[in-house]
Amino acid sequence: MKAIAVTPGKPHSVHLRDIPRPDINSVPNGKGVRVKVLKVGVDATDREINDALYGNSPPGDDYLVLGHECFGRVEEVGPNVRRVKPGDYVTATVRRPGGSIYDQIGTYDMTSEETYYERGINLLHGYLTEEFVDAEDYIVRVPEGLKHLHVLMEPMSCAAKAIGQAYECQRRMKVWSPQRAFVLGAGQIGLLSTLVLKLHGLEVFTLARAPGPHLKSEIVAGLEANYVSTSQTDLAALTAKVGKADLIIDATGSSRLAFEAMQALGHNGALVWTSITGGKAKTEVPSDRINIEWVLGNKLLLGSVNANRDHFESGIKDLALGEVMYPGVLERILTSPVDGLDNYAEMMRLLVEDNSALKVYVNVANE
Ligand code: BGC
Ligand code: ZN
Repeated sequence: MKAIAVTPGKPHSVHLRDIPRPDINSVPNGKGVRVKVLKVGVDATDREINDALYGNSPPGDDYLVLGHECFGRVEEVGPNVRRVKPGDYVTATVRRPGGSIYDQIGTYDMTSEETYYERGINLLHGYLTEEFVDAEDYIVRVPEGLKHLHVLMEPMSCAAKAIGQAYECQRRMKVWSPQRAFVLGAGQIGLLSTLVLKLHGLEVFTLARAPGPHLKSEIVAGLEANYVSTSQTDLAALTAKVGKADLIIDATGSSRLAFEAMQALGHNGALVWTSITGGKAKTEVPSDRINIEWVLGNKLLLGSVNANRDHFESGIKDLALGEVMYPGVLERILTSPVDGLDNYAEMMRLLVEDNSALKVYVNVANE
């Protein structure tokens, strides 16, 4: 069957290839699920893998099938599968467990090992192919009523984890009740984080460079949050105007902005970093000032990567609630479809060149 793959370590090696069809019996104990892939989302991670910044083939192979944001339909289940049945719409988690205690209790996103296993990213093949097989533990059902949001399930799981982790950590404060949040970046993670924070009842300011109105600012407004163009009002000006934030989510992809955000956080607040910055940028920061304010304000800096099954499930609940609260807004994120696996070059072109493409995804097959 067809698959979109790269040769890890070799820049711009994206190509179409023929790979063997998976066998449901490769999963032990009758727990296998065979999924027909319908759509797969791609993002900066795929672009950076094709730039050979990271990504590794599974042992024994010299290629890596791309794609970690999948949406599909169950075709066949093993005799001991209970969670899903043929015909169900599903997505799948990205990470697979390593050997640490965290991996053994289903929190593989928290592995303490340096080596991590991620489908379509590191050491495991991804979903940009016609079908895949996996154990039911990693398959998450998508309600039929959310099928129009298809490839948003995985990015949403990352937003759900990032914010869930902040609340979890802030139980240290006993009575933490954040009022104001800043979201830095209006890409998919920024916009989905905006949604989650709004559903938590916060006043949300979502920041990105370009002055509105444009699609991103309209989506932010549609979620009843405030869009701030940093070319008009930078973070310092915003803070002077509305005060510091209780919670900041950085999803800019810029380590400079991630550090800059430290100066916009109020006492007892939490700053969450979610971006994978593959480059080598260096930035000067006012370290004395940040240090003293961090200590005097009991502030928290938290990194959050990936997600496990629980975050997929809570993210899906928030998408469902979001659809009821703000009907029709979230699907506007899904800007840029590509038709079929054969069009892998167009997929990469949109990812690399098209600034108006908020979300690129491949229509792999019809139902
Ligand atoms: C994915 C995450 C993954 C991360 C780092 C992101 O694009 O959405 O699931 O953990 O890249 O590999
Ligand atoms: Zn991703």
